[in-house]
Amino acid sequence: MKILVIGGGGREHALVWKLARSPKAEKIFCAPGNAGIAKLAECVPVRAEDVEGILAFAKKESIDLTVVGPEVPLAKGIVDDFKRSGLRIFGPTGEAAVIEGSKVFAKEFCMRHGIPTASSETFTDIKEARSYLLKHPMPVVVKADGLAAGKGVVICKDVTEASAALEEIMVERAFGDAGSKVVIEEFLHGEEASFIAISDGRNVLPLATSQDHKRVFDDDKGPNTGGMGAYSPAPVVTPEVHDSVMKEIMTPVVRGMAEEGREFTGVLYAGLMIKDGRAKVLEFNCRFGDPETQPIMMRLKTDLVDVIEAAIGKRLNSVRLEWDARPAVCVVMAAGGYPGDYEKGSVIKGLAQADELPDTAVFHAGTAAKDGEYVTNGGRVLGVTATGSGISEAINNAYSAVSMITWEGAHYRHDIGRRALKTG
Ligand code: AMP
Ligand code: GLY
Repeated sequence: MKILVIGGGGREHALVWKLARSPKAEKIFCAPGNAGIAKLAECVPVRAEDVEGILAFAKKESIDLTVVGPEVPLAKGIVDDFKRSGLRIFGPTGEAAVIEGSKVFAKEFCMRHGIPTASSETFTDIKEARSYLLKHPMPVVVKADGLAAGKGVVICKDVTEASAALEEIMVERAFGDAGSKVVIEEFLHGEEASFIAISDGRNVLPLATSQDHKRVFDDDKGPNTGGMGAYSPAPVVTPEVHDSVMKEIMTPVVRGMAEEGREFTGVLYAGLMIKDGRAKVLEFNCRFGDPETQPIMMRLKTDLVDVIEAAIGKRLNSVRLEWDARPAVCVVMAAGGYPGDYEKGSVIKGLAQADELPDTAVFHAGTAAKDGEYVTNGGRVLGVTATGSGISEAINNAYSAVSMITWEGAHYRHDIGRRALKTG
């Protein structure tokens, strides 16, 4: 079968790496891919946002199965376009992807279906938003309604910070139209976890749990990023928490979406805040997490093509997933300056040696090939991922590989997985 993966980050490298292990995969394409993906798939120079370009390519190549990585093409309705053309694709329709695409929709949906989440109010008028702030206890979280590449969420410790966030989102339109509405939300304390599941519109099949590290520096300091590392499983999701998340969040979401005519097929990712054994929803995503997918794919034993085909065929209830019991840890290596401005084009050394280590996979995110070498080509450059007999061995294995890789300005967190050591 010919498979097309859309996207070009570490998540897509992990997906391609896993799909390539399926006996059903005869040929894999990736649009646009990256230099690491190019070892396993044919990279196609079409941007992930260029839905028309991707559709034309899939028709020309008679692609049998398309797997979408990022949210933007999903929100643009790529799944609807492919289905109309009779092409098989895995992901939610535009109507269903709105669960990630609009935070206002997601909050109101949670209210309608009794799904636990932080209390919040929505505003289109900045004056009303400002006067609400004066009555609201601090800290508070201000969120742009629409897609903002993970940057439209500001945690504000006082009214001055919150007013500045409103100004940036609603007046300066730092995230464009995504800021025409804002959600002002109660700040939740606790420990975060990523709960990622596959849905066929009716059944929910949870993947292994995981935890991301959103802040750029050790000890969760500094600004938010796309994610600086992840591990799986997340010990904070105890079997009891897992059970309640399935009952109170995942199953009601899939049922509620179907009831509202937005049947959800694809990856449903709930970002959770867990405190005293109770989980509340911070956000929904309609796709695989990045970097959570890297450790999750390393642990998944079941053929991913089979799982995806079962989801598309509405047969997920017949699938049992098999997991490597060993934990996996992914350390993201980023370019100097990330998540702010960063340089591209630094030569990366030590990749081949790191790649040869047992139980290790170096997933590429922002890399390119130049004159026979790998060079940096993005903010998050690599996701160095390893398994181990326990979490501490997985951490050591990942950092051993990281220590072999260098380029000018490279930085990474030194404490990925430490929280799992404490709770696990
Ligand atoms: P979101 O994109 O909504 O998940 O927000 C990005 C990050 O902001 C989350 O991963 C949390 O770290 C943080 N965050 C979002 N909402 C809240 C909240 N209500 N309370 C505390 N932290 C939050
Ligand atoms: N790791 C966070 C995300 O994928 O949104």
